[in-house]
Amino acid sequence: MEAKLAVLISGNGSNLQAIIDAVAAGSLDAQIAVVVSNRKGAYGLERARRAQIPDRYFPLKPYRDGQRSRAEYDADLATQVSAYAPDWVVLAGWMHILSEQFLGRFPNRVVNLHPALPGQFPGAHAIEDALAAFGRGEIDHTGVMVHLVPDARVDEGPVLAQEAVPIRPGDTHATLADRIHAVEHRLLVETLRQLVGKRTQPATGTGM
Ligand code: GRF
Repeated sequence: MEAKLAVLISGNGSNLQAIIDAVAAGSLDAQIAVVVSNRKGAYGLERARRAQIPDRYFPLKPYRDGQRSRAEYDADLATQVSAYAPDWVVLAGWMHILSEQFLGRFPNRVVNLHPALPGQFPGAHAIEDALAAFGRGEIDHTGVMVHLVPDARVDEGPVLAQEAVPIRPGDTHATLADRIHAVEHRLLVETLRQLVGKRTQPATGTGM
């Protein structure tokens, strides 16, 4: 049976699109069970709707306004996601650090994509940081990694795949980001293909 994916996004969703396209082409034996965004205007939600994938908008703000904690948000998010019984939870441009309240419900089943090599440039500005390091003559390439998310450390965890991406003289944020995204789209799908091929017990989200 095909693997079930839950894809969490916050923005454009071009990586989500790469997964949608691979599933549609039959090159990834998976079903996207749900797409969740913490941002209402995320274009990825539109991509999900077009592909007739269930989508959920689940913002943090009501929790903040109601003086409720991020931990409560994470626990409720886990409950929402686990309703779709995903085998894998894919963070594809999800801009919210997940705590144990979420991760503990999907042990070894949360996969993150990050536009830098392991140990380099964690956080939301990896591409800017790589360009700046290139400008200082410190590096001549950056990269992409796909890794498991065992805990709340940012952009760290067992690496599933990585690939270097060259930085070229004259690169702008836009040209480097385009080069990185092209690698991401391929590497994420290849990694998911391997993961769904060696699927073991599904994550039920009841392990808390
Ligand atoms: C990607 O670069 C991903 O690595 C990072 O956020 C970006 C999301 O892009 N975490 P998109 O929304 O998939 O187009």
